[in-house]
Amino acid sequence: MAASDASSASTVEEITPPPLDMNEVDRILEQHHSDSTELIAILLDIQDALGYLPIPALRHISEQLEFPINEIYGIVTFYKHFKLTPPPKHQFTVCTGTACHVRGAVQVFREFERQLNLDTTICNTTPDMECGLETVNCIGACALGPVVIVDGEFKGQVKQTRVSSMIKKATRSSGGDTE
Ligand code: FES
Repeated sequence: MAASDASSASTVEEITPPPLDMNEVDRILEQHHSDSTELIAILLDIQDALGYLPIPALRHISEQLEFPINEIYGIVTFYKHFKLTPPPKHQFTVCTGTACHVRGAVQVFREFERQLNLDTTICNTTPDMECGLETVNCIGACALGPVVIVDGEFKGQVKQTRVSSMIKKATRSSGGDTE
């Protein structure tokens, strides 16, 4: 249900990413002795450091490791953990596992889409990078379903009618103007 990073690639041009610190990429490559057998660990460390995997960083890694860029791209698009776009300021994660699903998680998710004016089949981040929306499959709090995680904070028994206030509360602190 959640848009993949690959499907949101078409909107990458619309977003101004933060400046890329290639020194940080080089530092991580050095830590791993530019060893291509450590590619996954390198990618994980770079994502931890930068928040995502910028395409220029992937090209740089490809050159430094003498590893084909298409294979690196294949890896980062295969594993959902890897992100090719910068993280939004506020992340809303709706659990759509079975227990949450039967209690209305899909309706909650659709309400988030409506309030954020997002079509997650195309992109799961608002153009201003203020809000992101994604789904997850069961986070082990089934009795509290439907569960939504807002910027890392769990919210239980979420109803559609709470969605608007949840977005307002989350964005208020950063002066966001979403909705
Ligand atoms: S199904 Fe949502 S927490 Fe388990």
